[in-house]
Amino acid sequence: MPHRHGPALNQRLVIAMVGLPARGKTYTARKLSRYLAWRGYKTKVFNVGNYRRDSVGAAVPAAFFDPANESAAASRQKIALEALTDMLKWIRESGQVAIYDATNSTKMRRKRIRNRCARVGVRVLFIETICNDKAIVENNIIETKLTSPDYKGVASAKAVADFRARIAHYEHAYQTITSEAISYIKVIDVGRQVVSNRIQGYLMGQIVNFLMNLHISSRKIYLTRHGQSLANMKDIVGSDSDLSPLGKKYAEKLAEYVHTHLKPPYTVWTSTLKRTRQTAKAIGHSTMQIKALDEIDAGICDGLSYEEIERRWPDEFAARATDKLHYRYPRGESYDDVIERVNPLIIEIERQNFPLLVIGHQAVLRTLYAYLADKPRSEAPHLEVPLHVIIELTPKAYGCEERRISLL
Ligand code: SIN
Repeated sequence: MPHRHGPALNQRLVIAMVGLPARGKTYTARKLSRYLAWRGYKTKVFNVGNYRRDSVGAAVPAAFFDPANESAAASRQKIALEALTDMLKWIRESGQVAIYDATNSTKMRRKRIRNRCARVGVRVLFIETICNDKAIVENNIIETKLTSPDYKGVASAKAVADFRARIAHYEHAYQTITSEAISYIKVIDVGRQVVSNRIQGYLMGQIVNFLMNLHISSRKIYLTRHGQSLANMKDIVGSDSDLSPLGKKYAEKLAEYVHTHLKPPYTVWTSTLKRTRQTAKAIGHSTMQIKALDEIDAGICDGLSYEEIERRWPDEFAARATDKLHYRYPRGESYDDVIERVNPLIIEIERQNFPLLVIGHQAVLRTLYAYLADKPRSEAPHLEVPLHVIIELTPKAYGCEERRISLL
């Protein structure tokens, strides 16, 4: 079996969120968790709000969060420690990146996290989300009312008033990070400004890069394979063949769809292979030809049909069927390799503010789709990305809306 290729997967890290309620901590924690899991790190979010709901129920009044309320403060501390203990147990036993999603808004709370992590020899990175933009905070308050189990069945005005009172309690005790001795990233106004301190090693660097490119404006991402190629007709892997007559028809239909549904400005990406470039041509829009979007390199199997591969290299054929994610074609690539290769494109997709149409190939699109639609990395090689279908994705705060449009 070929060796696992990829990032420094032996690293372990605790990421501790810091910030007032409604500042995007959970949003950032989940996005980061999705990204790191896609990159191959065993990642898990420990949300203290969930521990609190399990322990004292969802319907606690704002007074529960008043730092002057001693018994409630003791209860909140106990709950936070319980989550911390579970998290450290998980990371010691099997995890790699644990995300501690809580306010962690006092120096004392953060010191405790650092001490406990130091005892088990795991580094801590704090991510403080600060938001001075009132419109964004207001939006988050309304969103919380709509999505948090804390306010299920509570009248809108009452829920919003209670949540504001809760935030005010936290504001009393809040201490921003000032210590230069610790590793931290401050994300200010959803990435308008990102400040980082003591970023050590590969993984922390990757996290800074990811957070710097996040934004919350809405836009659509369209994924489609090229139209049917001559190689597709013969069930041939790889090669660089032209479109078939049916593939050309798809290219025309796709152009019609784009002209009717996408309003400029929008961006079109293709790979460097003929079948994607030919599919884009009828759109008549400038395209970026991206080498990282080329189809998985089938190495010695390039240009052969699946039947021929099975006949010539039965062991290779069987090994691929057993573990398609890790299997690397001799002198070619594995799905794992493809994920690493397209990683910069995911960062670029996150950064885009306008609609993006990606005309790609089956394996490469599976890996992009796995990230965007939050599918487990292990499922990536098996996801449905058929020919002649546009996958329209609209990223939302917690998830992604999807529509599939079949054009032929
Ligand atoms: C919560 O109980 O919702 C969060 C607790 C915290 O992290 O302060």
